[in-house]
Amino acid sequence: MAATSINNIVDSMSFSTPDIVRLKFLNINYNVFKELFQKVGQKMLDTSPRNRKFEIDADNTPTIKFLHEWISGKYGNKGFLISGKIGCGKTFFVKIIVEIFKALRKTEFYFITARNFNRDYSEKGFKYYSQRPLLIDEFGRNENKLKTYGNDETPFIDMMLEKYENNSIIIATSNYKIETLEEFYGQLLADRFKEMLVYHIMKGDTRRK
Ligand SMILES: Nc1ncnc2c1ncn2[C@@H]1O[C@H](COP(=O)(O)OP(=O)(O)OP(=O)(O)O)[C@@H](O)[C@H]1O
Ligand SMILES: [Mg+2]
Repeated sequence: MAATSINNIVDSMSFSTPDIVRLKFLNINYNVFKELFQKVGQKMLDTSPRNRKFEIDADNTPTIKFLHEWISGKYGNKGFLISGKIGCGKTFFVKIIVEIFKALRKTEFYFITARNFNRDYSEKGFKYYSQRPLLIDEFGRNENKLKTYGNDETPFIDMMLEKYENNSIIIATSNYKIETLEEFYGQLLADRFKEMLVYHIMKGDTRRK
């Protein structure tokens, strides 16, 4: 077959992937980002009755750096998974980055808690989750199997598989190690995580006091 007809065949094909949200990244200097991050975090702390000052130290600085890289587009359209010990500040930090994204890039990540997924999904329906950018807190704490009168369903896993097909982004936090999560969700999904998620481990012990 001649090269020109090969090109004709290839040209005649058109591929499109459902592209629900393509992240629009920020061109922002690290020091400016850090100041913004800290101020947003402090504003959030000020609304809580605990009266805390925002702590930045050697344990959480690498995570601020990671979030700066992510928001600057270093990892393309991948989401991320932050894992770390109980109380080290994962949910708090992810909520800050979500607020920054919402304010500057008009992209909203919907907050869900994996633990409540099966209950909430029955109310809200599958599409609510499969088409939106999600912040999934406590990844790995959902029930994978939902017992129904017919077959057992696996709504969380199905929702994640559909998100993969749709290029629909997720960001997540977890107390579990990556290997534990991969085992928990099974090979089919775990292999797709490689394209969906950048893994970051947040350092430090609990900040609850
Ligand atoms: N840098 C910080 N400065 C001040 N307070 C913080 C900081 N990071 C976290 N906290 C506070 O510490 C507590 C624990 O944080 P957070 O809930 O984010 O931890 P977590 O890692 O998500 O915990 P878990 O694993 O139990 O879900 C919260 O009250 C939060 O506001
Ligand atoms: Mg948390």
